Amino acid sequence: MHIAVNDREIHYDTFGDGPPVLFVHGFPLSGSMWSETARGLSDRWRCIVPDLRGHGCSAATATVSIADFADDLAGLLDALGEGRPAVLAGLSMGGIIAFEFFRRHRTRLRALVLSNTRANPETPEGAARREAIAQAVLRDGSRAGVDAMIGQVFGPGFPSARREEWARRMAENPPIGVAAAARALAGRADSFPTLPRIDCPTLVVAGDQDAITPPDLMRDMHQRIRGSEFAVVPDSGHVPPVEQPERFAAAIRRFLERLESGARATGQTEKSS
Ligand code: MLT
Repeated sequence: MHIAVNDREIHYDTFGDGPPVLFVHGFPLSGSMWSETARGLSDRWRCIVPDLRGHGCSAATATVSIADFADDLAGLLDALGEGRPAVLAGLSMGGIIAFEFFRRHRTRLRALVLSNTRANPETPEGAARREAIAQAVLRDGSRAGVDAMIGQVFGPGFPSARREEWARRMAENPPIGVAAAARALAGRADSFPTLPRIDCPTLVVAGDQDAITPPDLMRDMHQRIRGSEFAVVPDSGHVPPVEQPERFAAAIRRFLERLESGARATGQTEKSS
């Protein structure tokens, strides 16, 4: 479905009914990475799954910032008439957007799921690499950007045919959207000062084989967020909802159920099996 948000068309899907959970995808993916998670949780929750600006079937703009992405999400909740505070589940770039959402729209948040993401600002070398990717994508098409990163995205056990299928899906994103998002990631804020300020229930999720945001990085993030919970998804690289959808959904379900019952364990670490 499409809906107008901040004067442009955002594509989204919703699954189920109940307390709202907003799923925010990584770079350069689209809402489709959450399909199995959202379907799996739709028995009890209203799962809202947008394509971010310039990704999937949502309209692109030549430039975008992480703050724009966060404001689009708040605008989407408004456009959907969803006034209840939502759980925001963000993976990688989606988590970076979640930090910005926390800073800009705290009252819209009920809880956070921070999956395979990072709090640091981009390094000068990283910013140069992202600018090179943006230029390559605008010159040669989105596949150039995908090829620059696909080798690191999935764990070693992820079948090569599925890796290629996801590379093709990523390359379907329009070059203008991929380039704009690469530049937005290069210009992202330092979210380390935000971590100790996070005052909503939070689950931090890692993939045990993630080469982009390794488990130790995620454990460090968990330790900086007071009362947060931590889950490690076995046999998964950077995208557990795609690589291990059942294990990932089970970890989120346990967190959401504790949230509903008010019995949230603090500081808990679990291995999601
Ligand atoms: C993502 O999955 O969003 C990307 O890996 C983010 C990044 O390149 O740092």
